[in-house]
Amino acid sequence: PAVSAGQRFAKNAAIIAHRGASGYAPEHTLAAFRSAIEAGADYIEIDLQLTKDGQIVAMHDNTVNRTTNAKGKVGAMTLDAIKQLDAGSWFNQHHPMYAREEYARQQVPSLSDIFTAFGRETHYILEIKDTSYNPGIEERLLETINQYRLEDYVIIQSFEAKSLKKIHMMNDRIELLQLMWYNTPARISSLSLNKIKKYATGISPNFPKINAAYVHKVQKSGLRIYPYTVNYQLNMDRALSWGVDGIYTDYPDRFREVLRQN
Ligand code: G3P
Ligand code: CA
Repeated sequence: PAVSAGQRFAKNAAIIAHRGASGYAPEHTLAAFRSAIEAGADYIEIDLQLTKDGQIVAMHDNTVNRTTNAKGKVGAMTLDAIKQLDAGSWFNQHHPMYAREEYARQQVPSLSDIFTAFGRETHYILEIKDTSYNPGIEERLLETINQYRLEDYVIIQSFEAKSLKKIHMMNDRIELLQLMWYNTPARISSLSLNKIKKYATGISPNFPKINAAYVHKVQKSGLRIYPYTVNYQLNMDRALSWGVDGIYTDYPDRFREVLRQN
């Protein structure tokens, strides 16, 4: 029988652990990244912000309020100060089912800490966050990737096309993904796809607003597509049936199981 696009691509779809295996361990900690690697993730996705002293740390928000035991802007704190914080107890309080006493000792890692810990053991999707809070992060990021000789192990993503184009000007060998956010059912013009193709190799839209036609249009243009953040296996199956190139998930083990069964 004829195979659908989904069935053809399913086995190759990438498992991207969103903020690490953040469903099971405190996001953006070495524990969450280790858990993702053990679950068989192909990539660990990491949001990046700059500290007061210009160091890159793994953090989604521009304050430490939600994911540590302190309050303050990341950009107003030194790396040393941020490393004193407890980056895991909040998770234990919010997710008692997966709480572990040792999470209370997790720190906010710098990108260098992450590269030192995992090196070429995994691949990385590195997200540049709001550049108004993180001026010059592109240069610092490329320096760090270069220092650890991980150019072939990283993909860089951002919602900001300007930031991605800047990276592309400095280094056209690193793969880039354009993040997209839709409030309403997603549509994309051929013109937009062609513009994105000039600097990126793929796009990552929010899953709930896309459909099979959107996926196929993106892929037909020669770009890959990785929807985020897909946590239920029913939706993982659905995304696979459309032939996506991979998905971001807080539960990499769930997607691995879906891939095995496809
Ligand atoms: O990486 C895709 C997705 O992570 C973008 O949203 O807010 O989780 O960084 P956010
Ligand atoms: Ca992200």
